[in-house]
Amino acid sequence: MKIGIFDSGVGGLTVLKAVRRRYPRADIVYLGDTARVPYGIRSKSTIVRFTLECAEFLVSKEVDLLIVACNTASAHALDVLRKELSIPVFGVIEPGVKEALRLTKSGNVGVIGTSATIRSGAYQRKLSSAGVRVFTKACPLFVPLVEEGLVEGDITRSVVEHYLSELKGKIDTLILGCTHYPLLKKEIENFLRGVNVVDSSEALALSLSSFVRDEGSSSLELYFTDLSQNLEFMVNFILGKGEGIRLARGVFAT
Ligand code: DGL
Repeated sequence: MKIGIFDSGVGGLTVLKAVRRRYPRADIVYLGDTARVPYGIRSKSTIVRFTLECAEFLVSKEVDLLIVACNTASAHALDVLRKELSIPVFGVIEPGVKEALRLTKSGNVGVIGTSATIRSGAYQRKLSSAGVRVFTKACPLFVPLVEEGLVEGDITRSVVEHYLSELKGKIDTLILGCTHYPLLKKEIENFLRGVNVVDSSEALALSLSSFVRDEGSSSLELYFTDLSQNLEFMVNFILGKGEGIRLARGVFAT
């Protein structure tokens, strides 16, 4: 079983970690588009183009299924990918929504994500059609905080407070609609005491159980479109240990 996982950068490694924990024998090929991150500030057509190019790279590595471990790409490009590719494609939005619907008692659910994810309305449509009230907030500073390794402490606490104050007291469940955000979970939970915080990466890994066989040689290939400055630090920081990283050559133009 060979699983392809794609993200705009390093955030999708949180999904990789959850998938690997659940299916430790499966082979995984990861691609992070570090040359063109962030996707969250781009137009739909650019997000779709970038995502298709990255998916083609992973298909060329003969993966059996593709996980789009990026909320922004899932929100804008999942339908196109499902039309274009002949392998099963999974995004992070549906599993997160499903888990939030399971957890909410009040029917008031918050969603935080990049500007492009919130603007797409993808979460809002799915949650509203299930009859819950949705409160959204784009949190653009969360991604650079994580990329700097600032996952806790005074600065992070004030940014969390800055974005989440308006949700406090209104919701009983919050979806972390960006792959970087699980790294801020502790500070978010501290600030929104008593709120269920949904990490889509865990929900996604669980939802794959009827498609993924835990078979293979446990190999892990990590490709990035740019071996950028902070990359090695971030990979080790998220995965908790050193892993070899490689440059994905070829098809990527800005
Ligand atoms: N990985 C992206 C997401 O989950 C966040 C980073 C970006 O803006 O590309 O939406």
